Amino acid sequence: MNICEIDNLYVEHTYNRFPLTIVSGSGSTVTDEAGRTYIDFGSGIATNSFGVADPVWQQAITEQIGKVQHTSNLYYSEPCAVLAQKLCERTGLKKVFFCNSGAEANEGALKIARKYAADRGNTAPVIVTLKNSFHGRTIATLTATGQDGYHQHFGPFPAGFVYAEANNVADTLEKLAGENVCAILMEAVQGEGGINVLEDDYVKAVADYCAENDKLLMFDEVQTGNGRCGTLYAYMHYGVKPDVVSTAKGLAGGLPFGAVLIGEKAEGVLVAGTHGSTFGGNPVCAAAANSVVDRLTEELFAEIRAKYAYFCETMSGAAGVAEITGRGFMLGVLPTEKSAADVVRECREQGLLVLTAKNKVRLLPALNIGWDEWKQGLEILKGVLAK
Ligand SMILES: Cc1ncc(COP(=O)(O)O)c(C=O)c1O
Repeated sequence: MNICEIDNLYVEHTYNRFPLTIVSGSGSTVTDEAGRTYIDFGSGIATNSFGVADPVWQQAITEQIGKVQHTSNLYYSEPCAVLAQKLCERTGLKKVFFCNSGAEANEGALKIARKYAADRGNTAPVIVTLKNSFHGRTIATLTATGQDGYHQHFGPFPAGFVYAEANNVADTLEKLAGENVCAILMEAVQGEGGINVLEDDYVKAVADYCAENDKLLMFDEVQTGNGRCGTLYAYMHYGVKPDVVSTAKGLAGGLPFGAVLIGEKAEGVLVAGTHGSTFGGNPVCAAAANSVVDRLTEELFAEIRAKYAYFCETMSGAAGVAEITGRGFMLGVLPTEKSAADVVRECREQGLLVLTAKNKVRLLPALNIGWDEWKQGLEILKGVLAK
């Protein structure tokens, strides 16, 4: 039996996998079992920030593994403390809680919002999230996810969530003004929802309302964060100051890691014993994250923006393209006639790996993809869309 057959026999089918086993790679090129190479425009769904088997990232991990792989959260750990300092200094937020995934980071954010409310005598807190959002697969983050499809089969769900329409100021402020509402959680660019960018005026209006009415402004930066949108975090495009930011995916460049960044307003809400995680802040993952964050420089962001501009020039108005959306290296292409799934399959057959987000083709390349691979991959995509 080959790997696909063994997997199909023994692994629970929660994913519809593509018929491809990636065994190795280098940067933005990955190699399958048969030795065939592909340009990778997915980077493990925005996790492999600097591509596959990046040497700087590898060194950071191997050095830490040679010292200690895990300490538990009962002790202090240098990679964790130093990373928290970097994240706070670069965002202006005050504290960090480390965890292992995006869903867990959002669970942390939701717990902060609920305790923030409880500390103020609000014992039935309500959190606003946006329609078409995606926040994770745990019961609470599924509930926060504003898409009915995800709410099938898994009820009963926790109370205390209402859904507002993205980019609709009146609807969102009305929901925020509702009884017992303590916070809003939103993605600056909805990822799984179809690469939909929140508008400037909308985010500013929501941020102003939260600041004036003691609501927590929380950004889910699991997919948008860590350089993906051409800034350290995507909220930075709007000039607003969040109270809570959840992040994961690309933070440790492909190792499981997440973080909740906590601003002044919510600092100290989680006290000892109120939250925790066995592996959260794992030193190997934190060392990987330190190496990633150190490389998220203004120079890199300028490169991402230049490659984004090239993408817009190449794809906008091209044959078979109805619309392009996104920011930086979080991009969507809506085909005129083909289904996104067909485009993904045809691209793969031609040596390019891309993803879907609803009815769009989604591109999430490694942040350091070279110009050659970027141009070559976009040519393949353009050809498939035009055919
Ligand atoms: C915006 C957003 N939030 C949360 C998650 C869940 O992250 P994880 O799969 O690491 O739990 C995802 C995953 O796609 C995401 O895109």
